[in-house]
Amino acid sequence: MRAFVTGAGGFIGAHLAEELIKKGHEVTGLFMPEEDSRRAEKAGIMICRGDITRPETLEGLFDKVDIVFHLATRTSDWGATSIFEKIMVQGTENILRACQKSAPRFIYFSSIAALGLNRHLDGLAEEAAREVTGIAYCDTKIKAEDLVRAFCHKHHIDYTIIRPANVIGPGSVWVKDILDALARGPVPLVAGGKVSGAFVYVDNLVDGTLLAAESDAAKNQTYHFRDDYDFTWGAYINFLGAHINKKAVGSIPFQVGWYLGHFFEMILTPLHIRPPMTRLAAGVFGRNNDVDTTKAKTELGWSTRVPLDEALAKISSWIREVYIPANVQKNPEIKRFYRKIVFITGGSSGIGLATARELVRYGANVVLIARNSEKLDAAKNSLDAVKLVPDQVIDVISMDVANPGEVSEKMKSAVAAFGAPDILINSAGINKYADHFENITCDMFSEVININVNGVRNVTHALLPAMKEKKGHIVILSSAAALFGMFGYTAYGTSKAALMGFAESLRYELAPLKMPVTVVFPPEVDTPMNLDEAKTLPPEGRAMKSMAGLLEPDYVARVIIRAIAKKKYFVIPGFQTRFMYFFHRLTNGVISRVVADLLVKWIIKKNKIEK
Ligand SMILES: NC(=O)c1ccc[n+]([C@@H]2O[C@H](COP(=O)([O-])OP(=O)(O)OC[C@H]3O[C@@H](n4cnc5c(N)ncnc54)[C@H](OP(=O)(O)O)[C@@H]3O)[C@@H](O)[C@H]2O)c1
Repeated sequence: MRAFVTGAGGFIGAHLAEELIKKGHEVTGLFMPEEDSRRAEKAGIMICRGDITRPETLEGLFDKVDIVFHLATRTSDWGATSIFEKIMVQGTENILRACQKSAPRFIYFSSIAALGLNRHLDGLAEEAAREVTGIAYCDTKIKAEDLVRAFCHKHHIDYTIIRPANVIGPGSVWVKDILDALARGPVPLVAGGKVSGAFVYVDNLVDGTLLAAESDAAKNQTYHFRDDYDFTWGAYINFLGAHINKKAVGSIPFQVGWYLGHFFEMILTPLHIRPPMTRLAAGVFGRNNDVDTTKAKTELGWSTRVPLDEALAKISSWIREVYIPANVQKNPEIKRFYRKIVFITGGSSGIGLATARELVRYGANVVLIARNSEKLDAAKNSLDAVKLVPDQVIDVISMDVANPGEVSEKMKSAVAAFGAPDILINSAGINKYADHFENITCDMFSEVININVNGVRNVTHALLPAMKEKKGHIVILSSAAALFGMFGYTAYGTSKAALMGFAESLRYELAPLKMPVTVVFPPEVDTPMNLDEAKTLPPEGRAMKSMAGLLEPDYVARVIIRAIAKKKYFVIPGFQTRFMYFFHRLTNGVISRVVADLLVKWIIKKNKIEK
């Protein structure tokens, strides 16, 4: 079969033309004079340049073809009606006139939008009355359908009208445009996102189109193509958004969307400004458009070949492999961390792991550092599952931060293997021996200082030379215990207060090099660290700790990431702790000490603790 495809560079046109080639047909594709045709050429499609709005460019193109698939159209939910008329009605007439002499089989691509999108379309068959709505895209589809029927009837051309539902697949506007909108954000749902998406996967649509093209029964008929997926717009939009860490926000009722769309179109279209809402968008997202597909199933034997999970998996791969790498600039958070090299000590657990997860979602290459290899591997596996793009690096290094020789050697190899870090997050730490000071031996005290203080010193010292060139960012996890002091925290509190002094001094040295330093002072965070501490922490310490509240590691991770983005130096996560610190500073510590002393007294009395 010699086939001609107009709009062969478009999403559906490209899939159709490539499938025709696979089936052994001779295919010519119509491309605009400047349109990129490399993909089609590679697939073996013959390229023909022309413009459907200029009949002189179409002369003789269809003289030696058996079938024409007319897909060239204007796919947009807004714009002057005259432009839609010119492309969709006049352009179709130009193609038909060029076909008049050779009279090839004519397959016209309309849309379910021809039924009018101001009402629910569920259950409507091909014969249902179409409604003129004032939406240029929908109304010109009606006119073009009428033109095809009348012209083909008059000139004895066999035609078939294809009315696809919302065509999804890798690269579809229903993927790209929604991702772009989510990246710009915020995107509200229409009608709570509860309406069926009325999708047809592109390969399934191509199946149906080819069945219609090869069938005598399909001559002079119209067919709806919609997959039997049970998938709402809300689920679909949030499925797409999850790839770029976005989701829909709020919802507007259909009627509000419709009238708002009408208002914006009236005001903004004449000014050539894209309306933030359109009637077409309200109709697509807010009405049930599950049209009836019985005719295609019974007359053509068509069915959904690619099921929903497979369709979504293919879309997902395309987003990760093609869309995200090409659109990093559109999403500020992704742009900031994409491909950045981040080393995280203590990355196998708690705050370190939560921060790593968040950074991996934004496309960073992350190296986790800790001692226990099994925990590191489990952490790596959990991060592999949330990668933004498939070739993102997530690796682990088993190392004791308290061992300067080991740190120096392993960090050297790590820089050689992964490159110098853009960001170093010092999160490794322990909170063992939270007890009365008299119970803490010299070895216990030294262990805490060695890991919590010397560990930060060792890793930072080993990586600093390599990070200088990149003006890398150094993050240090101190603790609210450094700000206030705590009952039972002589070892841990000392180590964390030391880090405050370390950070303060390092900051002065690195500021001239434009290397940011961030020091973070979280209150209690719900991580495995507290299990260790709970073994020995006296009740007085437990009561004091509760004053600052309990935070989730994911929350602290987001605070750390915001601080890195804004290059903030002194960061206290949690309102309660910030509030307490404000009064602590304001009264030179008097209020906090008086309150804490009273609390300790009360706990001693309540628990009948012997002094
Ligand atoms: N959780 C809180 O309430 C809280 C509050 C304020 C500040 N912080 C600080 O935040 C940081 C993270 O705490 P977290 O709650 O996430 O603790 P966590 O869940 O217990 O994680 C601690 C991490 O540090 C690693 N680590 C411990 N000693 C190490 C060593 N010698 N060498 C290398 N890695 C070592 C651990 O892995 P391995 O054991 O396998 O080495 C683990 O990955 C700590 O610095 C902590 O002091 C925590």
